[in-house]
Amino acid sequence: MHTKQTNMNLLLLHKISVWLFLLIYIIKTILLFTNNTSKLASFSKAIKVPEMIISTLFLLTGIYQFYLLGAIKLFQIFKLVAIFAAIPLAIIGYKKANKALAGLAMFLLLMSYGFAEMARKKPYLTSNTTLMVDGQPDGQSVYMNNCAVCHGTDGTKGYNGSADLKKSTLSNDESISIILNGKNNMMPFKGTLSDEEIKAVANYIITLR
Ligand code: HEC
Repeated sequence: MHTKQTNMNLLLLHKISVWLFLLIYIIKTILLFTNNTSKLASFSKAIKVPEMIISTLFLLTGIYQFYLLGAIKLFQIFKLVAIFAAIPLAIIGYKKANKALAGLAMFLLLMSYGFAEMARKKPYLTSNTTLMVDGQPDGQSVYMNNCAVCHGTDGTKGYNGSADLKKSTLSNDESISIILNGKNNMMPFKGTLSDEEIKAVANYIITLR
């Protein structure tokens, strides 16, 4: 069983390894583009082992986040493709001091970081078509499209430190207020979902308890 706390620690470890990885590549890029090829070679040599550890951590914790997420979103596919294209380009580009390849690799890495941020802020980009039943939005459909990515299809998953909705003791109004305004790692849905959709999903999550 993975607990909410270990998930949050792993997410933090993932973020730290991504930042360190990007930092290493930013330094390499600066050295390469300022024509400090000998400094680049000695920096690459010195950082070799830490870089291997950091990139392994970054890939493993990243794969684990995917596993937790369950539903794969379009942005995450872009992110994966960009990362897996960037890695061989980076290895060759920096080794051969080829600015075009290294620049492209750096661009792909930064782009995948951007996609990750976008996916985090807008998980509803998966699909935002709500199923309508008798002219009213279907709460389960709103939930699956917007909430399951973090809370899991049954409300218990706990991605990104999400609360277990099965154990939630909040009143309907309190839930609506969190859905509208967000809380910590949960983004606000005001402006993204209609009032009717928010009402429908608030009623639906009570049925998960
Ligand atoms: C990006 C991930 C994410 C998404 C998407 C998300 N949530 Fe959350 N949600 C969280 C997190 C994290 C918390 C815990 C916030 C805190 O207390 O720090 C939370 C807390 C809640 C709570 C409070 C539960 C309690 O008892 O404290 C409710 C209710 C809730 N979410 C409903 C929803 C609904 C409904 C949706 C979809 C419209 C949704 N969430 C989408 C991450 C998310």
